[in-house]
Amino acid sequence: MKFFVDTADIEAIADLAATGMVDGVTTNPSLVAKTGRDFKEVVGEICQVVDGPVSAEVTATDAATMLKEADVLAKIADNVAIKVPLTWDGLKACRVISKDWGREVNVTLCFSPMQALLAAKAGASYISPFVGRLDDIGEDGMGLIEEIRAVYDNYPALDTEILVASARHVSHVRDSALIGADVITLPPNVLRQLAGHPLTDKGLAAFLDDWAKTGQSIL
Ligand code: G3P
Repeated sequence: MKFFVDTADIEAIADLAATGMVDGVTTNPSLVAKTGRDFKEVVGEICQVVDGPVSAEVTATDAATMLKEADVLAKIADNVAIKVPLTWDGLKACRVISKDWGREVNVTLCFSPMQALLAAKAGASYISPFVGRLDDIGEDGMGLIEEIRAVYDNYPALDTEILVASARHVSHVRDSALIGADVITLPPNVLRQLAGHPLTDKGLAAFLDDWAKTGQSIL
């Protein structure tokens, strides 16, 4: 499973990229607004730090203007993936960007398996179902991932990757991996939590204490 980092904070991205565990980055207008910085400048910097796909979202709502914005974003760097919302205009733009331009498209704000099927038919490279926001309203976010996985697996010709988004906890990562999602995009803090376990810390401390008692040194 690929790990993307869900932020526009260049320092956080650079820090995590150094671990070798960052396969891409996703941004959206809210994450960019949090930085207080110029959108195109931030995307350009992120594309320098991460080799993988960097999702940059259009802000227009009509297909024609989405395509004009997508042209600007695509020119920032070859690894920019254009993010469009799951609307009919977004699907129209997705089809042009993916099939005519040959550029990657991340279709976002997905909340149903039928939306995900439409995105795949439109040539989306990635579909972004928002699991956390479904959980927030008492629905089953991971259940949506299971449904999309089942639908896509019924039609091998569809090659859209399931990119789990709005992930809030390590359990979202575990469940996504068990279901077989292709990608999960994580806030920096959640990605960092993946390596941690109290028994690992406790066991390492015990190893080091016992080693210290030997008085030996490897170097
Ligand atoms: O990639 C989408 C993600 O940023 C949304 O997360 O926590 O606002 O639902 P959240």
